[in-house]
Amino acid sequence: MANFLLTIVLPVFVISVLVKIYLKLIAGWCKCKTCLVGKTVIVTGPTSGMGYETALDFAQRGARVILGCLDKREGEETKLKIINETGNANIIVKPLDMASFDSVRAFARDVNASEDHLDILVNNAGVAGIGDRLTQDGHLYTMQVNYFSAFLLTNLLLGLLKKTKNSRIVNVASVVAKYEYHLDCTRLDHYPGNYQKVYSRSKLCLLLFTIELAKRLQSTTVTIYSVHPGVVSTHLFENVHGFGKYLVALGRVFFKTSEEGAQTIIHCAVSKGIEGDSGGHFVDCRKVPRYETAKDGALMEKLWVVSEEIVHLRPEEVVI
Ligand SMILES: NC(=O)c1ccc[n+]([C@@H]2O[C@H](COP(=O)([O-])OP(=O)(O)OC[C@H]3O[C@@H](n4cnc5c(N)ncnc54)[C@H](OP(=O)(O)O)[C@@H]3O)[C@@H](O)[C@H]2O)c1
Repeated sequence: MANFLLTIVLPVFVISVLVKIYLKLIAGWCKCKTCLVGKTVIVTGPTSGMGYETALDFAQRGARVILGCLDKREGEETKLKIINETGNANIIVKPLDMASFDSVRAFARDVNASEDHLDILVNNAGVAGIGDRLTQDGHLYTMQVNYFSAFLLTNLLLGLLKKTKNSRIVNVASVVAKYEYHLDCTRLDHYPGNYQKVYSRSKLCLLLFTIELAKRLQSTTVTIYSVHPGVVSTHLFENVHGFGKYLVALGRVFFKTSEEGAQTIIHCAVSKGIEGDSGGHFVDCRKVPRYETAKDGALMEKLWVVSEEIVHLRPEEVVI
């Protein structure tokens, strides 16, 4: 027994501690002190995980924070928690179900009516581990929540964002976009029998959308960034089943905390001097080279056209 402890358990423990220390050391941290008093920001999916930490950080900086929440009760609880922690009472809860285009349109209408400027939009809401379930609009649930609705929401708020000097959009994507080869824009709702592939597809679409929108916004002061936050211990993995569930349980000890995961999102939203990197992808608060899967300009243009059709973007809603 003593031998087993000495030869197996102790080395595994020591290596794990060293890996954890290394991961803590290389994790990016947003050190920018930008004040957000007088600024209005939107965070989708702010009731848990990185969305919560991002909204909390913006509130600490003095922003008017609009929380786009799936569940009204959870939204109100989140609002109270943020007010208690920051003393900033300028926190607004608005209903938003990213699985419904009607809900996204209602949210955008509400924001466009109540706000005269919008400085930061963080498209954070997301789901994983969901199989071939469809939304009421008839699309793959993961595709609609993670990408189609972010595309629609951003377009519906572009007028407000363009009116606001130096506004920013941050799309929370993922490194898994790197592994989604051969994206077929005509089969975005096709279920390949594997929920992980749909998740990767949704995140690659977000990345391509980021680059294409940055190109279309070149003559404006709006900038847009995509982020891989790292592997973060949040509720996101709760739908993961099978072998993956055990891997996640084992791996959680090495995952980032939600606060650590939020740092790159916050960096892209508030750091000064990154405006020239619009369209860029950020990991650990640093811009990284484009993934091989995100280099095809024609694919980006095609995805844009197909996405407009899927979300039924009307000509009068296109403000680019
Ligand atoms: N965790 C990671 O390792 C990781 C890695 C790369 C990228 N990401 C991305 O990071 C983002 C944040 O995820 P997280 O890890 O912080 O997970 P999380 O704690 O599960 O947060 C997801 C948020 O999205 C909201 N949401 C889910 N479905 C929604 C819908 N239909 N309409 C509106 N909001 C909805 C959730 O609200 P409810 O709580 O009410 O359901 C929750 O507030 C996601 O886009 C995710 O894909 C995460």
